[in-house]
Amino acid sequence: MSLRQAVQDDARGLAELAQKTYADAFGASLRVDDLRAHLEKNLSAENFARMLEVDTFFVAEQDGRMIGYVQFGKCNFERANAATDYELRRLYVLREFQNQNLGAQLMDAALNHPCMKAAPRIFLDVWEQNHGAQRFYRRYGFEVVGERKFEVESGAETSVDLVMCLTQTLSPTVG
Ligand SMILES: CC(C)(COP(=O)(O)OP(=O)(O)OC[C@H]1O[C@@H](n2cnc3c(N)ncnc32)[C@H](O)[C@@H]1OP(=O)(O)O)[C@@H](O)C(=O)NCCC(=O)NCCS
Repeated sequence: MSLRQAVQDDARGLAELAQKTYADAFGASLRVDDLRAHLEKNLSAENFARMLEVDTFFVAEQDGRMIGYVQFGKCNFERANAATDYELRRLYVLREFQNQNLGAQLMDAALNHPCMKAAPRIFLDVWEQNHGAQRFYRRYGFEVVGERKFEVESGAETSVDLVMCLTQTLSPTVG
């Protein structure tokens, strides 16, 4: 398994991985139409091409196949400082590779990136029913600081996402 930072040419591969991992993780809790609309609206290759221009991605690969990814960038949550705070936007591992420490390696790569290290706060949101991911994030020091409404594309249903935050103590700049 190897980790590397993604580049523009990865947009299509990332979209395929993102759609598969999202559908595997949350497909059973969404109506088929809502799932399809979510994938088309948020996780298309065109979207990833746009996101790759502003966000940073690390991908995990095995034998040339993408098996997990993490995405992070500036945080635009209402409670965040858009100038300094960062958001861990997505962290996904293919089902057959979960629980083998890959998520932890992707998380470590993200948290060790200079922009993330320099951020006073790192935010993320996570579905309130996703207890495994919440446990995973708590181990890194993320704490629940609020809630956000998640509305499916049709508007037929809403659910609650928890907002979690990691507050970092930054070392003073020398000089
Ligand atoms: C969350 C996730 C990225 C962690 O990656 P991983 O490689 O499985 O994690 P690691 O092996 O490093 O660590 C294991 C921990 O991950 C979490 N985890 C494992 N499988 C999970 C799953 N299917 N869903 C959510 N969290 C899971 C648990 O906290 C687990 O620790 P535990 O032993 O206390 O249960 C990965 O499981 C995943 O892609 N899950 C589905 C998508 C998801 O929930 N993404 C987060 C959206 S906010």
